[in-house]
Amino acid sequence: EKAGYPHFMLKEIFEQPKAIQDCLRGRLDSTTHQITLSGLEKVKDKLLAAHRIIIVACGTSWHAALLAEYWIEELCRIPVEVEYASEFRYRNPIVGPDDLIIAISQSGETADTLVALENAKQHGATIFGVVNVVGSSIARLSDSGIYTHAGPEIGVASTKAFTTQLAALLLFAIKLAQYKQKIDTATSDTLINELQAVPDKVQEILNSQLEKIKSIAHKYVDAKDFLYLGRGYNFPIALEGALKLKEISYIHAEGYPAAEMKHGPIALVDENLPVLFIATKDKIQEKIISNMQEIKARSGQLIALVSTDDTFVSSMADDSIEIPEAHEIIAPILSTIPLQLLAYYIGIARGCDVDKPRNLAKSVTVE
Ligand code: F6R
Repeated sequence: EKAGYPHFMLKEIFEQPKAIQDCLRGRLDSTTHQITLSGLEKVKDKLLAAHRIIIVACGTSWHAALLAEYWIEELCRIPVEVEYASEFRYRNPIVGPDDLIIAISQSGETADTLVALENAKQHGATIFGVVNVVGSSIARLSDSGIYTHAGPEIGVASTKAFTTQLAALLLFAIKLAQYKQKIDTATSDTLINELQAVPDKVQEILNSQLEKIKSIAHKYVDAKDFLYLGRGYNFPIALEGALKLKEISYIHAEGYPAAEMKHGPIALVDENLPVLFIATKDKIQEKIISNMQEIKARSGQLIALVSTDDTFVSSMADDSIEIPEAHEIIAPILSTIPLQLLAYYIGIARGCDVDKPRNLAKSVTVE
């Protein structure tokens, strides 16, 4: 059932071109540049009336929420709050009939998320679920939603469930921007074309970067700590990369917004600390480059995710991994892939049970 792969995690990483395609199928038409989301249609009036959106999730799904916040605020100009379900449920949150809550959950069974939603629903909020498992508790509780269609995910650490959450959330953001007339046709056409191209670009990364990633994994297999840095749309991906490494290899890792580093974590930097930067081409790349220089000046080991053929940035780093060029809104989906692979290869090199990391469960049905 692993289809020739040594682990479910690797199989599921490699399934991502298909999983993302399945998530987009029937929803995104790149000839007419239309997005069809019946779940969104159903709550259209509520959505247009909502003064804000609150996104509730845990773990990796919370990282998807954070990126969705950046996307929705940028494209739809509506305020978004992102909440850890476990915090939201216990702090008497201000929520009512004018609020739209997006619940993100791969399993649809996470106890903290479920209870947070039940509370919000009692206060009259509308619940929109972004869920993988059809018919799960969160799917049933939701007023409407989008299934991510990633297929069953067996590996405990989320991979294809995460990237399909991102694809679904970006469809949501573009469609809502269209409803609210906050996006011009040229921009939405570009994003739709680029989203359609994601499965092929993911495949390109899987085809071309594997050996490079394996060699980086072997080089840093004995690291005690790791820092993952990104800015803007790539900040949530830095958090996700760090979480994946922690879970899969048991190496301590932290994700940070790159500029925040000088407010504390830079004290950790010495020649033994690998620092991974997501430094693909975007509006903020110049800022990331100066953050890289700050690490280099303190002898940290630099690993960079760079856009293909960006020799300037790759020459600054000790090691680099290439990401096909993409619109800055789309690029973080692609940058996720090498971070999953890096965690996987470091994990197996350290002899870890990557499909079933210690102390973790696939669905956390206790609080
Ligand atoms: C990490 C991971 C977890 C889950 C979290 C929420 O790789 O998989 O952090 O994301 O337990 O689970 P769901 O999405 O099922 O609500």
